[in-house]
Amino acid sequence: MHTSVLSCLFLFGWLTPVAPSSCIEDKPYHVSGANYWQAMNLGMASGQSSNRLRVHQDLRELQRQGINMVRIMASSEGSQFGTQPDRMYPALMVAPGEYDEDVFQGLDWFMAQLPKYKMKAIVTLSNYWTWSGGAAQYVSWATNTTIPYPEQWDHLLQQNDFLKYTNQFYQNESIIDVTQKWYRNHVKALMNEPQITDSEDSLFKWIDESAKYISSLAPRHLVSNGAESKNGQQWFNIMHKSPYITLASCHFWPLNWGYYNRTDPTEASIDYSIHKLNEFISNLADWAAALNKPVGLFEYGMMHDNWGEWAGLKGYSPDAPFTHRNKFYQAVADKVSARVADKQFVGAAFWAYAGMARPPTKPTTEISWVGDPPHEPPGWYSIYDKDVETLAILREFSKKIGAK
Ligand SMILES: *[C@@H]1O[C@H](CO)[C@@H](O)[C@H](O)[C@H]1NC(C)=O
Ligand SMILES: *[C@@H]1O[C@H](CO)[C@@H](O)[C@H](O)[C@H]1NC(C)=O
Ligand SMILES: *[C@@H]1O[C@H](CO)[C@@H](O)[C@H](O)[C@H]1NC(C)=O
Repeated sequence: MHTSVLSCLFLFGWLTPVAPSSCIEDKPYHVSGANYWQAMNLGMASGQSSNRLRVHQDLRELQRQGINMVRIMASSEGSQFGTQPDRMYPALMVAPGEYDEDVFQGLDWFMAQLPKYKMKAIVTLSNYWTWSGGAAQYVSWATNTTIPYPEQWDHLLQQNDFLKYTNQFYQNESIIDVTQKWYRNHVKALMNEPQITDSEDSLFKWIDESAKYISSLAPRHLVSNGAESKNGQQWFNIMHKSPYITLASCHFWPLNWGYYNRTDPTEASIDYSIHKLNEFISNLADWAAALNKPVGLFEYGMMHDNWGEWAGLKGYSPDAPFTHRNKFYQAVADKVSARVADKQFVGAAFWAYAGMARPPTKPTTEISWVGDPPHEPPGWYSIYDKDVETLAILREFSKKIGAK
C-alpha cells in the first residue's frame, strides 16, 4: 500500500544539488534525458496499457545511447463524469484521494527497473494539460463542473475558456481551499508546463508552497516545476525564485511556438528555429545564472518532414524522413553541450521516446502509447528505435556532456 507517490522519490531520485551544476554523490550530474511519460502505465502488471517487455527493450536501447534520465508522469487523474476524451487510462487517482493500486504498482515496478539501466527519473507530479487529467481535473472535482476542452489545442490562445477554467487551480481561493486538503493528505503537485495567469502572486504562491512541501518530504531531491520559460525573464523569475525550487526548467517547441513552418522544404524556417533556439538557450543560461540555479532543457521536439510526398497526414508516418528534425536535434546537442561545458546547463531531454512502439495504421479509440500523448496525433514527435540517425546524435550528445 502507498501513502504517497513520494515514497518512490525517496528511493531513486536526485541527491542534494550544489548550484550552479547539479551533483549526485559529489560528482557533477549531467543529464542526457528522454521523455517517457508512458512509463507508469506500461509498467502495470496487466491490462491494455501494460507492456513490461517493451519497457525493458526501450530502456536497454536508451541506455545504449547514453541516456541517463527519463522524465515520466507519476500522476494522472480520472473524472467523476466518466471517460474523458484524449486522456491516459487507467488513471492513478480515480477520485480525490482514491488511488488505483494497480497503477501505483506499475509506477513502483518501473522505478525499480531504473537502477538496472543506471538511470534517474524526473517524476512529474501534475500536469497543466488534460491528457493526464491535471489541474483542470482538480478544478472539475472541486467545483463538480465539466472541463471546457478547447476545440483545438494548438489554437489555445483564441480559446481561453480552458485557460481561465484551469488557472482557477492556483487563483481561486475557494478552489485552493478544497484542493489543498487533498494535497496535504496525498500529493502536493508540481506540474508539467504551468501557464501564466493574470496574477503573478497566485502562481508564485502555489509554486513556493508546493515546492516547500515536496522538499519537506524529499529533502535530498531536486525540485523543479516543469516550466517552459517561454514568457520572458520576469515570468522565469516568478516561477523559479522560490528557494525550494532547486532546478530551473525550460522547454523549446519551434513548431508549436510558430517559428517552424512544417511545409517549407527549404532551410529557411528550420534555420530560423535554430536561431531562436540559440537565443533562447543563451537567455536561459543568463537568467538561471542570475538566480544561481542549474537549468535544464527538459522538453524539445520536432516532427518528420511534411512536404512533397510526405505532405499532410503522411508527415506523421514513422517512414517519413526527418532531415529537419536531425538538424534541430544536432543544434540542441551543440548548443546545450557547450553550455554544459560552461557549467550553465545540466543537460537536455528530448520529447519523446516511442521505442519499439509504432502508431496505429487504422483509426482506433485505443491509446497507442507511442511518444505522443493521447490528445496529439500519434507519431508527431515520436522517436523510434529504428531512427538510427537521430539516436546517433543523442548518443554523441551523451558522450560529449559526460552523461553517466
Ligand atoms: C471560485 O470558485 C467558486 C466555486 O466554484 C465560484 O463560485 C466562484 O465564482 C469562483 N470565483 C471566481 C472569482 O471565479
Ligand atoms: C456532480 O454533478 C453531477 C451531475 O452534474 C451530479 O449527478 C452529482 O451528484 C454531483 N456530485 C456531487 C458530489 O455533488
Ligand atoms: C510555409 O511554407 C510554404 C511552402 O514554402 C509556404 O507556401 C507558406 O506560405 C509558408 N507559410 C507561412 C506561414 O509562412
